Amino acid sequence: MTILVTGGAGYIGAHVVRLLQEQGERVVVVDDLSTGRADRVGGATLVECDIASPEATGLLTTTLRDEQVDAVIHFAARKQVGESVEKPAWYYQQNVGGLTNLLTAMEAAGVDRLVFSSSAATYGMPAVSSVEEKLHAEPINPYGETKLVCEWLARAAARAWGLRFVALRYFNVAGAGWPELGDPAVLNLVPMVLDRLARGERPAIFGDDYPTPDGTCIRDYIHVRDLADAHISSLAYLDRAEREFDVFNVGTGEGASVREVIEEIGRASGLDATPEIRPRRAGDPPRLVASPERISRELGWSAERALPEIVSSAWEAWQAGPRRIEV
Ligand SMILES: NC(=O)c1ccc[n+]([C@@H]2O[C@H](COP(=O)([O-])OP(=O)(O)OC[C@H]3O[C@@H](n4cnc5c(N)ncnc54)[C@H](O)[C@@H]3O)[C@@H](O)[C@H]2O)c1
Repeated sequence: MTILVTGGAGYIGAHVVRLLQEQGERVVVVDDLSTGRADRVGGATLVECDIASPEATGLLTTTLRDEQVDAVIHFAARKQVGESVEKPAWYYQQNVGGLTNLLTAMEAAGVDRLVFSSSAATYGMPAVSSVEEKLHAEPINPYGETKLVCEWLARAAARAWGLRFVALRYFNVAGAGWPELGDPAVLNLVPMVLDRLARGERPAIFGDDYPTPDGTCIRDYIHVRDLADAHISSLAYLDRAEREFDVFNVGTGEGASVREVIEEIGRASGLDATPEIRPRRAGDPPRLVASPERISRELGWSAERALPEIVSSAWEAWQAGPRRIEV
């Protein structure tokens, strides 16, 4: 099978590319290398292209045809919540515009299978202990909105011309499947804490007065290697004649608090990770934990790696990178 992976030079995409290659699949990556790196795609063919640009549809169509692509996994997107609040039009243009071009090309080239990177950000601030997919999605920032609109767009294409797709709503992705494929961005909790420690600063907790057992926010941390497996399971699901669902949570169903994650980083690294408490940030729900029941039942997927492995692999990857910390 030949699989086109958009954003395959990025953090999560590179894990899926590596996994597909290990399974003997042929991979073509389309990436503009804005946050990705060419050395992350292994031996895959790399087509450099901004998928949201006016010329992208033609290039994508040609690539899908020439490379005889069977299925697409679509990661390429902008993902910074704060930036999306400042530049909403650009986020819609990049994320929704990128998928629009991709779907136009897929229809033209007769490629009808798509796995789409969605996000728990589609849910907004749900006041439930376990988030199920049937919950009404109410994103609270433009980033989450673009992910939800992309799901709608893919569903409309499914109705219009028979696109087969699943949207995977990732919860908090962390860790590294291979030390050289660690998360290069400092946007999520684990890299943020490691970045502070690398600067000789104390990790920050934004609010310790939430209605949770230790007062800090609870999230569902998913190992990026487990997440990569969920994409492989999704490709197999698309081959089924009967598919009841097109949206799946990808999480463990277990919550960990910010304080617990920081303590785990202290344990894995042997560093003093005593946090400092700062005021709450706007838009942080106290608890966001997936119900993984649907993906487990329908796709036979469940997470195999828990918080200690997530944190130790992130630490190992950080130590393999340019900002190694002396311990
Ligand atoms: N990391 C997370 O915690 C998380 C959580 C939920 C959803 N997601 C989604 O998963 C996907 C991958 O995220 P990631 O963490 O690997 O991010 P990343 O920034 O590491 O990867 C994105 C890749 O896409 C490329 N890209 C971005 N815009 C592009 C464009 N217009 N044209 C071509 N290439 C483009 C980048 O160069 C990069 O290689 C994104 O869609 C993101 O929204 C990520």
